[in-house]
Amino acid sequence: MIELDRRDFIASLGGAAAVGLMSHEARADALEDALNDQLELAQAAPGSGGGSFPTAAEVQAQIPTRSYRRGTGTSFLNTSGENVPVLPPMPARPTLFDFFDLRFSRQGNHCLQSANEAMQRGVDEEIILACLLHDTVQAIMRTDHGYWGAQLYEPYVPERTSFAIKYHQALRFYPDDEAGYVYPDMYRRIFGEDYVPAPHIRADWNMLRNHRWYDAPREVTVSDLYAFDPDAVVSMDPFVDIVGRHFRQPDEGLGNDNSPVAHMWRTIANPDAPL
Ligand SMILES: [Fe+2]
Ligand SMILES: [Fe+2]
Repeated sequence: MIELDRRDFIASLGGAAAVGLMSHEARADALEDALNDQLELAQAAPGSGGGSFPTAAEVQAQIPTRSYRRGTGTSFLNTSGENVPVLPPMPARPTLFDFFDLRFSRQGNHCLQSANEAMQRGVDEEIILACLLHDTVQAIMRTDHGYWGAQLYEPYVPERTSFAIKYHQALRFYPDDEAGYVYPDMYRRIFGEDYVPAPHIRADWNMLRNHRWYDAPREVTVSDLYAFDPDAVVSMDPFVDIVGRHFRQPDEGLGNDNSPVAHMWRTIANPDAPL
């Protein structure tokens, strides 16, 4: 039986004030995610008591113990044992904020906290925006989410913002003492302690280390929090103007603008479409 410490859980969501701003469904989703994370951690380090990490081979051996694949987008993954709820309807011309309110409930809080951290660190607005968006595509796909995320946002954000979203995924595997980025224990648990990043990740790292925009995705990794500030109040308010200045919201609404990625937005809006 997986148990959660209630205070830790509320703290992980940004504190009681932040929880008060969440809809009932968002709270239920967050609880399910937290339980899933605990379950994954427990499965990732069987018998370890949390003090050691599995090998990559042990992580691989866990694949046939699950009824789902770990790359599945969170909109499609339901491990609660309950039936899925009907999603609230989207407005006719949905904006980025509507997606945060109605469809990014599982990723939104983490992304808001990352953007908040970036803002506190005095990072420029293009990168604060990248932090705000960096994991939201996990609603439809977790595998290679940096690349999917960059594609989802490319038509609407500055090039440096989508660059940061794309490559934060690769840089998460490579520590940088000078930048203050330490390889996360969470990765030792979910990939295995001896995991070697895939060839495309290593190739991107080799490209990035001398790139003039290296600092952009690096900053996303530094602000990509796994330890949450219990006093943080998470709201979209501080980022509304930044989105207004740097996100090219289509008049027809995301998903209706006939862009090369409009279908991705429609998929997030309506994950119940059978075809
Ligand atoms: Fe990420
Ligand atoms: Fe993240």
